Amino acid sequence: MTGGNLSRSQLGTLVGAALLAPAAARPATTTSGVAWKLMWAPEASTGGLDAFETIEDDRAGSHPAGQPHIFPEGNNFRFTMHTVDRDTMTDRQRQEVTGTRTPTGYLRWLLGETWRVTYSMYIPSSLKASTTFTHISQTKRPGTGTLPITVTSLRRVDGVQTIEHKIIEGDVLVGRAPLNPLHDTWIDAEYEIRIGEGSAGSVRWVLRRAGTTLIDATRTGDTYLGDRVRPKWGIYRSLGDTSGSLQECYLLLTNMRAYKQVAATATRLEAEYATISQGAVESDHTGYSGTGFVNSDNVAGSFVQWTAQTLAGSATLTVRYANGTTADRPMDVSVNGTLVASAVSFPGTGSWTAWASKSIAADLVAGANTIRLTATAAGGCPNLDYLEVLQ
Ligand code: GCU
Ligand code: CA
Repeated sequence: MTGGNLSRSQLGTLVGAALLAPAAARPATTTSGVAWKLMWAPEASTGGLDAFETIEDDRAGSHPAGQPHIFPEGNNFRFTMHTVDRDTMTDRQRQEVTGTRTPTGYLRWLLGETWRVTYSMYIPSSLKASTTFTHISQTKRPGTGTLPITVTSLRRVDGVQTIEHKIIEGDVLVGRAPLNPLHDTWIDAEYEIRIGEGSAGSVRWVLRRAGTTLIDATRTGDTYLGDRVRPKWGIYRSLGDTSGSLQECYLLLTNMRAYKQVAATATRLEAEYATISQGAVESDHTGYSGTGFVNSDNVAGSFVQWTAQTLAGSATLTVRYANGTTADRPMDVSVNGTLVASAVSFPGTGSWTAWASKSIAADLVAGANTIRLTATAAGGCPNLDYLEVLQ
């Protein structure tokens, strides 16, 4: 630790604390919260359709010549729908996959839990919204005889093609956006479900394109019909469309991820109590937490290093920083001497008093972990406020 820039009162606190209880010299503030634990991360190119619990590829056997209708194409999951394909109920078509399967079995989404699914999807202009249902994802209670719990649908509303998300019980519209601008381009979907009866349930639905948020809506509603909740993806549509929209088409999905919300503890370690190499503690830009921040020298190789006492396992490391320049201030992140993320970008925040956060994932050991941020470019580190360890 460099003490040169500590004020007299800061030094007094440190010396006093060191005399009484050495461990208190580097205080850690702990708060309880939640974290998202990654539970499912299939890659179409390597694991193929093992990603799912069941595959309903022309389950009625209506079009053997079209097999397979569902298959990995590069790193995408592809669902193809021909005009002749028919489901067991012949007024509709279905090519769908269900569930989230991992190498150790399928995941069970249970009452009281909250799950988040993220993925990228490509809807070609041949996959149009229709006047009767076209669902491209659903959640359901497994088995037959129940309605879906939630659906993402391509629906014509007053002649306009839209994409919408609904909670079926009570017909709750979570969100709706025009579909035309989303055709023939990759869009990112995020879906969060709190599994509960009545008002204990809720759904959040987010659509983004190239980083721009198009929809981010949350609604309360019943999201539990018994047993468990299982997602489905693909094309499931009625032949009753009267707008002439049903043609041969497909849907692509990739980067599918499922996260479960878990209880977690966030431990905040202020940079002003960390080990500093080539830098000093300062407090001349407001907005920091604790008593100051670290201003590193503007050289590559300057670093700040914390010691975090943790459990063994995965953690999220969040760095709060300010960068009042317009140039990136990349830093390497190493844990216990091993590089876990190289030249992580810390772009400009607008001013030295505008603080932002950046998170990365890391595996930690039980007990003391050394976490070091090292500047990799001549600008040095951004100003560093704290490191937060969520686990
Ligand atoms: C300014 C600013 C510092 C910052 C430095 C830098 O001097 O006041 O807080 O660390 O720029 O560019 O790194
Ligand atoms: Ca600096």
